[in-house]
Amino acid sequence: MASFSIPIKLILVLLLSSINSTEAEAEALLNWKATLHKDAQTLLSSLWDGSNHCNWTGITCDRTRSVTNLSLAGYGLRLRGALESLNFIYLPNLIWLQLGKNSLYGHIPPHVGNLSKLIFLDLSYNNFFGSIPLEVGNLRSLYLLDFSTNRLTGSIPASIGNLSNLEYLYLYDNYLSGSIPNDIGLLKSLSTLQLWINNLTGVIPISIGNLTNLSSLFLSANVISGSLPENLCIGGVLTRLAVDHIGLSDNNSFGEVSPKWGQCPNLTSLRISNNNISGKIPFELANATQLGELDLSSNHLIGEIPKELGALKMMSRLLLSGNQLSGKVPSEIGLLSSLEQLNLASNNLSGPIPDQLGNCLKLFHLNLSMNTLGGGIPSSISDAIALQSLDLSQNSFIGGIPQQFRKLKSLEILNLSHNVLL
Ligand SMILES: *[C@@H]1O[C@H](CO)[C@@H](O)[C@H](O)[C@H]1NC(C)=O
Ligand SMILES: *[C@@H]1O[C@H](CO)[C@@H](O)[C@H](O)[C@H]1NC(C)=O
Ligand SMILES: *[C@@H]1O[C@H](CO)[C@@H](O)[C@H](O)[C@H]1NC(C)=O
Ligand SMILES: *[C@@H]1O[C@H](CO)[C@@H](O)[C@H](O)[C@H]1NC(C)=O
Ligand SMILES: *[C@@H]1O[C@H](CO)[C@@H](O)[C@H](O)[C@H]1NC(C)=O
Ligand SMILES: *[C@@H]1O[C@H](CO)[C@@H](O)[C@H](O)[C@H]1NC(C)=O
Ligand SMILES: *[C@@H]1O[C@H](CO)[C@@H](O)[C@H](O)[C@H]1NC(C)=O
Ligand SMILES: *[C@@H]1O[C@H](CO)[C@@H](O)[C@H](O)[C@H]1NC(C)=O
Ligand SMILES: *[C@@H]1O[C@H](CO)[C@@H](O)[C@H](O)[C@H]1NC(C)=O
Ligand SMILES: *[C@@H]1O[C@H](CO)[C@@H](O)[C@H](O)[C@H]1NC(C)=O
Ligand SMILES: *[C@@H]1O[C@H](CO)[C@@H](O)[C@H](O)[C@H]1NC(C)=O
Ligand SMILES: *[C@@H]1O[C@H](CO)[C@@H](O)[C@H](O)[C@H]1NC(C)=O
Repeated sequence: MASFSIPIKLILVLLLSSINSTEAEAEALLNWKATLHKDAQTLLSSLWDGSNHCNWTGITCDRTRSVTNLSLAGYGLRLRGALESLNFIYLPNLIWLQLGKNSLYGHIPPHVGNLSKLIFLDLSYNNFFGSIPLEVGNLRSLYLLDFSTNRLTGSIPASIGNLSNLEYLYLYDNYLSGSIPNDIGLLKSLSTLQLWINNLTGVIPISIGNLTNLSSLFLSANVISGSLPENLCIGGVLTRLAVDHIGLSDNNSFGEVSPKWGQCPNLTSLRISNNNISGKIPFELANATQLGELDLSSNHLIGEIPKELGALKMMSRLLLSGNQLSGKVPSEIGLLSSLEQLNLASNNLSGPIPDQLGNCLKLFHLNLSMNTLGGGIPSSISDAIALQSLDLSQNSFIGGIPQQFRKLKSLEILNLSHNVLL
């Protein structure tokens, strides 16, 4: 068996260089501190106390005393200063960089792309501006990237498609423009994609339908056009889909609500309000049995409200106002035992209010205004004892206000105007 010994000199050199490098890391942190605003320096001085930097607040080291974790979020520090002056070259062993909820500003330094061991990168809720450095595409170990709530501009770099371990991507509430890169479809591990409140344009890449682990997709408040991929539920894990306020391009139609989304067994929230969605509400949605929120308000939907929706036992918010829905209010809505908010205002609904609505014991907000509903106001509504706000205005109701309404002790807002009531 071959054996060899390491010369004592080399051991010393290794030891010294390791001590030197940990000193250099501490020095990089102190040098950064010195560039921050005075108040931030004072704060940090009290937390970065003593010569052992591995003991400082927000710092974690590995066994060789090399910094692996710089985490100054969530202490309410509101540190002011730039990140560019933190010399990342001396901190190449960082695994965790969490500086969210401070008051840092300036560009996100391209040098973060050198932190190849990083699994967690959170710079959210600061004042960073400029563009997202394409070097973030080098951070192949990342599972979380959070740049949300800053003032970032420019487009989302296509290099992000290289982050094959990424599970959480939060870029919401910035000023990002350009289109969503097709390469987003390469992020096979992605479970959460939140791009809401930006200036993103173009069409939604079909490649998003390839993300089998995608559970939350939030694209609201952008300027995106085109339609959503039908195969969004390919992996069956989609739970939350929000695409409100996005269909603002020249395209006259944003498409339809796909019957296929009924095959999303775990979908809990579907929000596509304030778009130009047309067509009917597919009755197949009734198969998305976990659906608790369905918000299709302010679109161009036509046809009847499918009675099959009465099967959705988890439904608490059913918001369909501002469409051209017609026909009757289905009595099956009375089967929605979890219903808290029902808004069917500003449609073309006719016929009576079904007695069964009184079975919705958790209902606190009921708005049926601006339809052509008629008949008397059923006394059974007063069984919906939780009601706080009831708006039946601008319909064709006749007769009197039922005595039983006195039972509605929580009622704060009652609007029955513009009917033919006695
Ligand atoms: C600081 O670090 C030393 C080892 O370097 C350790 O013995 C000590 O317990 C630490 N102190 C605190 C407060 O963590
Ligand atoms: C880094 O620090 C944060 C906050 O103390 C902690 O939640 C997280 O688990 C740490 N990460 C690692 C990899 O040590
Ligand atoms: C760090 O990143 C910058 C910018 O991407 C690059 O120019 C530089 O060569 C990198 N340095 C090291 C030591 O990797
Ligand atoms: C991903 O990385 C490879 C290899 O480094 C590179 O050639 C490619 O351009 C990168 N992809 C993107 C979209 O940046
Ligand atoms: C989007 O761009 C318009 C003009 O180009 C600007 O007025 C608006 O503030 C931008 N909004 C966001 C969220 O970036
Ligand atoms: C998808 O999620 C499951 C369960 O969390 C996990 O086992 C699997 O590896 C993930 N797939 C990908 C491609 O990341
Ligand atoms: C989806 O993935 C398949 C197989 O990986 C690939 O062939 C196809 O091009 C991808 N589709 C899109 C739209 O990216
Ligand atoms: C309209 O939508 C189509 C496909 O949905 C898309 O190719 C086209 O670019 C869109 N036009 C505009 C002006 O947004
Ligand atoms: C749906 O959710 C349940 C409970 O959270 C979970 O056990 C199941 O694996 C999920 N199904 C899919 C396809 O993700
Ligand atoms: C949405 O519909 C309204 C009314 O039909 C129309 O004025 C507007 O141009 C449409 N917008 C889009 C993006 O299609
Ligand atoms: C709902 O799912 C069941 C079983 O998967 C299927 O037989 C039925 O056709 C589906 N119904 C609708 C309305 O999609
Ligand atoms: C409203 O519904 C009635 C039938 O109840 C129908 O005749 C009328 O065309 C509908 N109006 C609109 C604008 O959809």
